[in-house]
Amino acid sequence: MKSLLFLFSVIGCCAGQNVLPEGPVDALLGKHVTLETLVSLENGFLAIIWTFQSKSDVEPVITLTNQGSKVDEAFTGMVSVNKTNGFLTLGPLQAKHSGDYMVSIVMADGSSQTGDTVLRVLEPVSDVTIKPNMAEVIELNSTVVLTCTAKGSFLKFNWTKGSAPIVIKDRISVKEAEGSSTLTFKDALRSDLNAPIVCSAGNRMEQQQSAPLSLPVHYGPDKVTLSSTTVAKFVRSGSNLKLTCSSESSPAATISWYHNAVQQSATGPELSLSSLKEKQGGNYSCHAHNAKTLRTVASEVMSFTVQDAITGVSITAPSTILIAGNHTANLSCEAKAGTVTMRSWLKDGRPLATSQRVVLSADKTTVMFKTVEKEDNGEYKCQLTNAVGMESATHKMVVNFGPEPVELSGPEAVEVKDPVKLKCSSASVPAATYSWKFNGTAMTVKTAEYTIEHAVFKNSGLYTCEAANAVTGKTAVSSHTLSVKGEGEMDEEGLTDGAIAGIVIGVLLALGLVIGLLMCCRRKDPIESPY
Ligand SMILES: *[C@@H]1O[C@H](CO)[C@@H](O)[C@H](O)[C@H]1NC(C)=O
Ligand SMILES: *[C@@H]1O[C@H](CO)[C@@H](O)[C@H](O)[C@H]1NC(C)=O
Ligand SMILES: *[C@@H]1O[C@H](CO)[C@@H](O)[C@H](O)[C@H]1NC(C)=O
Ligand SMILES: *[C@@H]1O[C@H](CO)[C@@H](O)[C@H](O)[C@H]1NC(C)=O
Ligand SMILES: *[C@@H]1O[C@H](CO)[C@@H](O)[C@H](O)[C@H]1NC(C)=O
Repeated sequence: MKSLLFLFSVIGCCAGQNVLPEGPVDALLGKHVTLETLVSLENGFLAIIWTFQSKSDVEPVITLTNQGSKVDEAFTGMVSVNKTNGFLTLGPLQAKHSGDYMVSIVMADGSSQTGDTVLRVLEPVSDVTIKPNMAEVIELNSTVVLTCTAKGSFLKFNWTKGSAPIVIKDRISVKEAEGSSTLTFKDALRSDLNAPIVCSAGNRMEQQQSAPLSLPVHYGPDKVTLSSTTVAKFVRSGSNLKLTCSSESSPAATISWYHNAVQQSATGPELSLSSLKEKQGGNYSCHAHNAKTLRTVASEVMSFTVQDAITGVSITAPSTILIAGNHTANLSCEAKAGTVTMRSWLKDGRPLATSQRVVLSADKTTVMFKTVEKEDNGEYKCQLTNAVGMESATHKMVVNFGPEPVELSGPEAVEVKDPVKLKCSSASVPAATYSWKFNGTAMTVKTAEYTIEHAVFKNSGLYTCEAANAVTGKTAVSSHTLSVKGEGEMDEEGLTDGAIAGIVIGVLLALGLVIGLLMCCRRKDPIESPY
């Protein structure tokens, strides 16, 4: 038998390779496989001989002739050949069935064909497992090595992160070995492990995945940011302030605080400063420390000045009476507390205009009036400013003056029974008191207006008004002449130029008429004829 096989294998070697498909044929352990021939047996055959070569030995498997089939002992109950097409079915497969299978077919006409193919009995893929070389990763410090192992035959490995393939380049490398694959992240970054990593192992028959692996990556602190509830460079004393320190860090960083480079007892991301005092101004910073990465990072320095607010602003003014032209005066402005950095003065809401007479002291605390004048009356406001606010005080200054020259108004002439109103006025602070005289005789009227309800002839005469200021002790006088006419007299005297012209023309016309009449009558007289 062995010599026959040898013979056929020698023939087969020369008979071309289109008898069996090119291998290898893969089949799973424990399953069945069919090796399919490509030769048509329609015209009948004499023998189909399947042999198997593992290592060096060539062993018979099954021989099929028209007398029936003969199965080798080692394959009893495991093989069959289909008489119609010569296909070999083998199973359940064992590992030892891997190897080179040959078939020799002797056709009815005595010609023969030989072919061979490789069968690989694959172990199923199982136990795909990733083993990391560490349980937690320190960013930039750790070289992470992930080893993926699996059971099975002809395994190929694949790595994915969050379902996307891992790009192998630069710091990231992969090493394949029999039954394992090693993925290395040198100086690992948080982005290397920001999604679960899965290893899949497989062969042409099947594919298995590992459980997803997630490793905590410790990183930071980076971006340590110090912020405050106020951004002002100056802070009002007594106010409250909160500083906040934030950082990108995993695990969360522990925060420490520094004031003028001295560590504070406070810890935690917030530093509360309440009812601030001047000495609490200065430079603040925070340090973030990560207990895993052992890194400490400082924030930028924030600085501010604590300043007292200005309070108790008041204007000091003369307490004595001020008389225009006679007195000098100082207005001084002071605050009880707070550093003043700017002073300004307003009069009646506008910036105070200074002059040779009204002088502002060099430090702007005092307005000096070398003499006070009536135009200095008004409301003075002093404004004191510093970086944390502005306060002001006002003072109404009274400068006594007058009375100014008196104005006396009223009609010069009225008719009997007409009403008469004479009006006297004079600028004065305080307001003037008025008194009246008629033809030099004092009257009882003490008001600015002198009223006669129905004029009579004896009201004609000279009226005098006197304005007096009790504070300045000054008086001013003005006079007015009134004449009272008879009823209708005002109308005659009141003839207009037109009326006068009319009268003149009327008189002239009348005269002309008279003259004309005289002439006419003379001509009508009968003239005695000389004939
Ligand atoms: C042999 O092959 C033929 C054709 O492919 C098929 O019809 C037949 O069922 C097969 N016989 C057995 C025993 O499997
Ligand atoms: C990480 O590396 C730096 C520099 O080599 C080192 O100073 C630091 O201590 C390391 N951190 C840890 C947690 O080992
Ligand atoms: C004002 O000054 C004048 C002259 O200087 C003086 O005669 C007068 O008495 C003064 N008036 C008052 C009210 O002081
Ligand atoms: C006003 O202030 C000036 C300068 O301080 C001082 O010389 C003067 O006596 C003061 N005048 C009055 C009326 O207080
Ligand atoms: C007042 O004086 C005027 C002019 O001197 C005079 O005409 C008039 O009669 C006087 N009136 C009285 C009531 O004295």
